[in-house]
Amino acid sequence: MSSDSGQAIDTLFQEERRYPPSAAFSAAANAKPDIYDEAFESFWEREAHERVTWFEPFTSLYEWNPPYAKWYLGGKLNVAYNCVDRHVEAGRGDRVAYYWEGEPVGDRRAITYAELQDEVVRCANALKALGVGKGTAVGIYMGMVPEAPIAMLACARLGAPHTVVFGGFSADSLADRLNDMGCEVLITQDEAYRRGNPVPLKTTADEALAAAPSVRKTLVLRRTGNPVPMTDGRDHWWHELATDGSPCAPEPMDSEDLLYLLYTSGTTAKPKGIVHTTGGYLVGVATTHNYIFDLKPENDVYWCAADVGWVTGHSYIVYGPLCNGATSVMYEGTPDFPDKDRWWEIIERYGVTILYTAPTAIRAHMKWGPQYAAKHDLSTLRLLGSVGEPINPEAWVWYHEHIGGERCPIVDTWWQTETGMVLISPLPGITTTKPGSATRPFPGVDAAVYSEEGNEVGPGGGGYLVLRKPWPAMLRGVYGDDQRFRDTYWSKYPNTYFAGDGARIDHDGDFWLLGRVDDVMNVSGHRISTIEVESALVDHRDVAEAAVAARADALTGQAIVAFVTLKGGVEGSVEKLEELRNHVAEKIGPIAKPANIVFTPELPKTRSGKIMRRLLRDVAENRPLGDTTTLADPSVVAELQDRGAAETHDD
Ligand code: WT7
Repeated sequence: MSSDSGQAIDTLFQEERRYPPSAAFSAAANAKPDIYDEAFESFWEREAHERVTWFEPFTSLYEWNPPYAKWYLGGKLNVAYNCVDRHVEAGRGDRVAYYWEGEPVGDRRAITYAELQDEVVRCANALKALGVGKGTAVGIYMGMVPEAPIAMLACARLGAPHTVVFGGFSADSLADRLNDMGCEVLITQDEAYRRGNPVPLKTTADEALAAAPSVRKTLVLRRTGNPVPMTDGRDHWWHELATDGSPCAPEPMDSEDLLYLLYTSGTTAKPKGIVHTTGGYLVGVATTHNYIFDLKPENDVYWCAADVGWVTGHSYIVYGPLCNGATSVMYEGTPDFPDKDRWWEIIERYGVTILYTAPTAIRAHMKWGPQYAAKHDLSTLRLLGSVGEPINPEAWVWYHEHIGGERCPIVDTWWQTETGMVLISPLPGITTTKPGSATRPFPGVDAAVYSEEGNEVGPGGGGYLVLRKPWPAMLRGVYGDDQRFRDTYWSKYPNTYFAGDGARIDHDGDFWLLGRVDDVMNVSGHRISTIEVESALVDHRDVAEAAVAARADALTGQAIVAFVTLKGGVEGSVEKLEELRNHVAEKIGPIAKPANIVFTPELPKTRSGKIMRRLLRDVAENRPLGDTTTLADPSVVAELQDRGAAETHDD
């Protein structure tokens, strides 16, 4: 447990539960155990032929000039053709591509692949009329409507790179991204729905456009129908312009042509435009989607409950599933509108078989209680997925029991906006899963855990997650900023990708993600990861969610402050506080016992649902808050600051 072992992070938490695959699942699984035996080159070559239709075949598999990779060199393809047209040509036009469920109850659409093709063509013709062609940068600022994927696919059809900006972002954030990419056209909508209220996308877009002079034209979808300002000559209604359904040939693109930029909000600095290209990205997302979600396109109803504005939406709502000919569910609103069983009602209605969501959502459902899921028939579910943060073992087990009915394998998928595709995940039917572990690198992925000095940390030890070989969907840089690309990901170790996450590998070779390395705490010389202490807290029967941060301490260097959300109905008290501290001591040792615990109904999160521990550090230290612009709900930290002062407890 001591830090002089050469480990960058000490690991304390032991999770002993094991979930082997059932024989029936294994027998029918897309992935068979020998998938791990295939050589890197032959794996990625075979998958490229199997998953994707090429207009012209690639002539070489990859080229690696660190830190830049190219994949499927010489290949020509079109992403929209692969995601839409070829399924229609193969006679699958009647298959549903999206069951779309609007937030207002009863607002539903089923869109077949043939209809999707028609809509993509109309949108592409409209964009053409606005002067969009190969290489024209297009911004997309929309909610969870079918026209968001349609707009993305229309861009891909024309060879116009897009950047999707999450509909919850402000005018400033939108303008920054449009300016950085030099967008000429913006696709948006009048308003979106969120928890029953309209979100004024067009008005916000207008504000952004005042500061984004490169944008000449907009295409505006009518969603809510409420009046919005339209600027003559610049703004065009989707329903008026996207009427031409005459053929629009998919542009043959080079494997390495830009498909999209997606901006990751750093904590303070300006967002980075993560570059994703065409061939490798499509092969990477389609391959991982096929094996990790065990997709049977004729039977499955797949639901990735993320937002299209995040990379999860790009790779696993749009490009991966459509390339594989999947039938997906897409839901516009929040999980608690009009009530907290909305998700479960959707699963029952469409017979969803695969559900992919984030730990933050699972913990919200845990907090609300299992009675909402219990009201609905979830027996169609056969596989569950998790992404976005380390999943606390207790949340994993809750998901397994209350949503998966103890029969569904859970795939805890580790990846990043930068990686484009999942890189570490169980393969259902093969992997014996462990709550809290993302288990193994995907076939053809070379991941390892390094010490500060760059030595491989052995089984049981904690360190930094790295990737030693390129992978097809990897980022091709930070747009317009080569130096930042090198500094952020490639400067810690030579020719090795530094993910910025802590991890450990256990004695079976399974990976446990320990959170962002910036969040690691140092208590009396022990380097403790936040997730382990949080998981020990969530392990307590009364705790729904927990986040920990360190504050300076004269004696121990740093002391742990925990912020805890109790399950519905449970009251915070001095006794409860002691009980929780002792629970942590029992689970992982006295060293990790929080010095203070603050009870709070909500934790500060980013708009994508990640806990912002950086702000919790500010609260714990009683200092003014750093940058709060990426915060989903600023009132949460203000309240925490009050509580922090009122309820802290010291040894
Ligand atoms: C960061 C990337 C990848 C799509 C959504 C997030 C954390 C992601 C896991 C997981 C532990 C995870 C990491 C990573 N993360 N998945 N299964 N277990 N941590 O994309 O916003 O680019 O965030 O999310 O810290 O670096 P992103």
